[in-house]
Amino acid sequence: MRYISNEEIQFTKGLEGVVSNSTQIGYVDGEAGKLYYRGYDVADLAEHSTYEETAYLLFYGKLPNQKELAAFSKKLASYRALPSDVLDRLVDMPCPCHPMSMLRTGVSLLECMDESCPIAEDLESKKEYGIRLIAQMATLTADIARHRENLPPIEPDPSLSHAANFLYMLNGKRGEPLAERVMDVALILHADHGMNASTFASMVVASTLSDLYSSVTAGIGSLKGPLHGGANERVIQMLKSLSSVEEAETFVERAISKKEKIMGFGHRVYKAYDPRAKIFQGYARELTELTGNDSLFAIARTIEKRVIEAYADKGILPNVDFYSGLIYHSLGIDGSIFTPIFAASRIAGWVARVIEYLEDNRLFRPRAIYQGPLDVPYVPIEERE
Ligand SMILES: CC(C)(COP(=O)(O)OP(=O)(O)OC[C@H]1O[C@@H](n2cnc3c(N)ncnc32)[C@H](O)[C@@H]1OP(=O)(O)O)[C@@H](O)C(=O)NCCC(=O)NCCS
Repeated sequence: MRYISNEEIQFTKGLEGVVSNSTQIGYVDGEAGKLYYRGYDVADLAEHSTYEETAYLLFYGKLPNQKELAAFSKKLASYRALPSDVLDRLVDMPCPCHPMSMLRTGVSLLECMDESCPIAEDLESKKEYGIRLIAQMATLTADIARHRENLPPIEPDPSLSHAANFLYMLNGKRGEPLAERVMDVALILHADHGMNASTFASMVVASTLSDLYSSVTAGIGSLKGPLHGGANERVIQMLKSLSSVEEAETFVERAISKKEKIMGFGHRVYKAYDPRAKIFQGYARELTELTGNDSLFAIARTIEKRVIEAYADKGILPNVDFYSGLIYHSLGIDGSIFTPIFAASRIAGWVARVIEYLEDNRLFRPRAIYQGPLDVPYVPIEERE
């Protein structure tokens, strides 16, 4: 038996700081607390743009003119309806599973039940399937949410914007103008975010020249985890478990003293306040006030202030997931649907980056440090202890 000497090999756990590719799609400036899509500051996009425009920007590298936006929006609207057998099969699963698992399975079903979906697509077909998935993942998410409430699905309304239609499919009625705008902003702010775990997972799958649906299901699976997109659901669970500001103070004090991770804080790249959290905080304040959820907002602010006091020097500040849940909760959406909404937005970034990477593809194939033995003699089973 022998062992390899690994002394010379350097690596960083979690690929921290490792550069995996080059891109023109987006950039996270973690020091300045800025996020850019194709060079545009997301704060500007959140103020002036729509999800359709943002998705177009990520896909095509420029903001659309009026004609281009109208055609793109029309195409998205035309793709919204799901084949009915997809939903039937999805809701017929023997045991109720998490909506993120249903969404992942729903995306797989969309591919398996579409005879026109080839396994290896050219880039133009991938882009088209990507646009179709942007539309269909919103429908899937709304249908899954309604199924969990024992409500029938609502047919999409092609006259509505992506965000307004999503709320309509969730609730069976139009949202208030503020609700529709906030949903649009939420979708814009989640659409892309550098080389995060789910984007990387999608790209790793794509780099094998697998199909787009496999990339997207990998992205959904990765996003589901509580260290990534799944944190938003945990945040609202945490906030709802606290009945007063005093309880929040005790909770946060205990978590800090025990060095427990507090959901909705910290980020691998941001060492300044996450710009998305800043925007969400403003909307969360407004919406919680309007909907009588201001005590939850006060609890959130209490936790935020104490965490910043304790950890700001380590760069642990609120991330996107801290306030987004308060917004969805104020819109009447169940916590289990928060991460699917994240996925239904992030699909734009996943697909844009997958396609960009495939334009000059190279198989992702890193190495690991092997610390086990080599040349272990094989012992026949009857001689083993
Ligand atoms: C997002 C996250 C995984 C990134 O972290 P990372 O770069 O891998 O950093 P680590 O998890 O290694 O944490 C580094 C240090 O910060 C601390 N830390 C990180 N996030 C923290 C949090 N939310 N609460 C308290 N401490 C935290 C860790 O305990 C660790 O402390 P130590 O150096 O004393 O051991 C991490 O901040 C986290 O788990 N956050 C909570 C989940 C969450 O909100 N995820 C959504 C991200 S958008």
